[in-house]
Amino acid sequence: MKKVTVSAPGKLMVLGEHAVVYNRPCIVTAVDSRIKVTVEQRKDRIVEILAQQINNKPFRRPIYELNNGRDEEIPKEVKFVCKAVESFIKDNTIDGGLTITTESDFSHRYGFGSSSAVTVATLKGLSELYSIGYTERQIFDLAYEVTLDIQGVGSGFDIAAAVYGGTLYFVTGGKRIEKITDKKLPLVVGYTGVKADTPTLVRQVAELKKEKPDLVENIFKNIEELVKMGREYIKEEKWKYLGDLFKVNQKTLYELGVSTTKLDVMCKEAESNGAYGAKLSGAGGGDCMVALVSKEKQKRVEKAIESVGGKIIPVTTSAEGVRIEK
Ligand code: PMV
Repeated sequence: MKKVTVSAPGKLMVLGEHAVVYNRPCIVTAVDSRIKVTVEQRKDRIVEILAQQINNKPFRRPIYELNNGRDEEIPKEVKFVCKAVESFIKDNTIDGGLTITTESDFSHRYGFGSSSAVTVATLKGLSELYSIGYTERQIFDLAYEVTLDIQGVGSGFDIAAAVYGGTLYFVTGGKRIEKITDKKLPLVVGYTGVKADTPTLVRQVAELKKEKPDLVENIFKNIEELVKMGREYIKEEKWKYLGDLFKVNQKTLYELGVSTTKLDVMCKEAESNGAYGAKLSGAGGGDCMVALVSKEKQKRVEKAIESVGGKIIPVTTSAEGVRIEK
């Protein structure tokens, strides 16, 4: 039976997290840690999903009962694959069933956007398998719907990175998606060892916004400004200036209450060892921080982050978007 393998990259938020949930722009870069999804037709009406990263027990359901009210029991990554299939078969009639295998280069604990990458790769794989020819924009819109359905919140920046790759200027819901560059950014990534729960942090910021609307609006306005400046500095490769923006952005995220002592310490340590600037990346509460570093200072900064308990995750940025694998 026909079979296709597709891969999509993970992501790192460069500047603008949280504000991007409220109609502000952000900058996101795709990372070359990828999720690979193989979709294969089968004769029976079963969908079988094998998510190597989660466990090795296949998940099996009749194709028209993917969402039958038992969703709570489904592992997270499998949930996104199921919803992507559901969304695909709503628009396209298919005979038989599917076997879907997912493999990941990275731990879902890093906050690299495994859910959005797996959703994008599944939709692209199905589009290819049934010769539908979805455009990048169609895949973005469908995948965004899937993640909103499951998580209820989110700007869609991670989906844009998985679809388009590179480093992007992105506005909430994909109102604007512009490629800034395909060139690499000199980033060092440190993992805190703590898994963050993005929806919880987004709701926490929403609460603060309700309590102190002026303060939060002001913070978001500042973030918008620094994102716009950051876009220019990336184009011009002015890393020192971009580093200064990292520092300011980290300060605003601290004020929003989403940083943690571990993240603060890792950023401080990176900066006092020669990084141009450092900040948390993503929702906060854990996951990763990023430091902007010259080649000469890279080793020293990496050691400094490790000395305070961070784990260096080697990544290449501005990675290629979703693609068919040989
Ligand atoms: O936690 P992450 O890496 O998925 O990033 C979340 C970024 C937010 O701006 C807080 C939410 C969003 O969807 O943009």
